[in-house]
Amino acid sequence: MCIELFSLRDKVALVTGAGKGLGRSMATALAESGAHVVVVSRTLPDVESTAKEIQDNGVKSIPLAADVTQKEDVIRMVEKILREFQTIDILVNNVGTFMGGPFLDFSEEDWRKMLEINLTSTYLCSKVVGKHMVERQRGKIINVSSALGIFGAAGSSAYCVSKGGVIQLTKALAVEWAKYNINVNSIAPYSMETEKTQAMLKDEKVKNAIISKIPLKRIGQPEDLSGVVVFLASKASDYITGQVLCVDGGFSAQ
Ligand SMILES: NC(=O)c1ccc[n+]([C@@H]2O[C@H](COP(=O)([O-])OP(=O)(O)OC[C@H]3O[C@@H](n4cnc5c(N)ncnc54)[C@H](OP(=O)(O)O)[C@@H]3O)[C@@H](O)[C@H]2O)c1
Repeated sequence: MCIELFSLRDKVALVTGAGKGLGRSMATALAESGAHVVVVSRTLPDVESTAKEIQDNGVKSIPLAADVTQKEDVIRMVEKILREFQTIDILVNNVGTFMGGPFLDFSEEDWRKMLEINLTSTYLCSKVVGKHMVERQRGKIINVSSALGIFGAAGSSAYCVSKGGVIQLTKALAVEWAKYNINVNSIAPYSMETEKTQAMLKDEKVKNAIISKIPLKRIGQPEDLSGVVVFLASKASDYITGQVLCVDGGFSAQ
């Protein structure tokens, strides 16, 4: 009976940035729990490969190429999904990247780019998908932020600000849309091993320095997000909104 609370059977999920890394892994977890999953990135072959893997779970999966920092792309993407499935029950705003450097050397162009990729993408997708969820009076939105949206870190000002913005957007929308039965929550990872971080983590010195800050003494793996994303997408979390769940091996508990 309890396990049924976590079932996503017949739900439709949209995961942005699902061509690789955490997005791909979360999309797979949602599919394994029964959801049909639309997977999006700018690189079609990547999301085609994710979709193929997901279809092995007996659910539908559509790969779409879109740049979610562009309003027209987001509108086109959502129209396409609604034509195909008539609904979007779950939105995972996962797109994001890291660009860093000393604040005084960090260009205005890169500052704007970081805010656009990490925060504006979440704003745009929440707005366009949220309109549909408000009409239907239900939905689950899960925003991938970061422990660095809560804590400061040297050489990471634009990243910290953009992810802090994602967390505040999560809380503000949770309050604004509670009356529509829409839950808005955030997952905040710390250091995770993905294509993006693999090169950096190959340097044993860097890796050990990161691990020394993590009570559970290991770098996170993409699968560490599976249970959390399914929980936040499912009925099991219906009374939870506006929360930030740190999946960080205990980093934020110190
Ligand atoms: N890895 C970590 O240690 C870590 C820690 C904390 C938080 N996070 C957050 O977790 C999320 C995923 O990180 P990750 O490490 O899995 O990243 P990743 O390996 O770089 O994957 C990012 C995905 O997003 C897509 N993407 C990037 N920009 C896009 C855009 N404008 N429109 C559509 N798709 C876009 C990428 O494909 P294309 O480039 O082909 O579009 C790719 O599929 C990010 O928000 C990141 O900030 C990661």
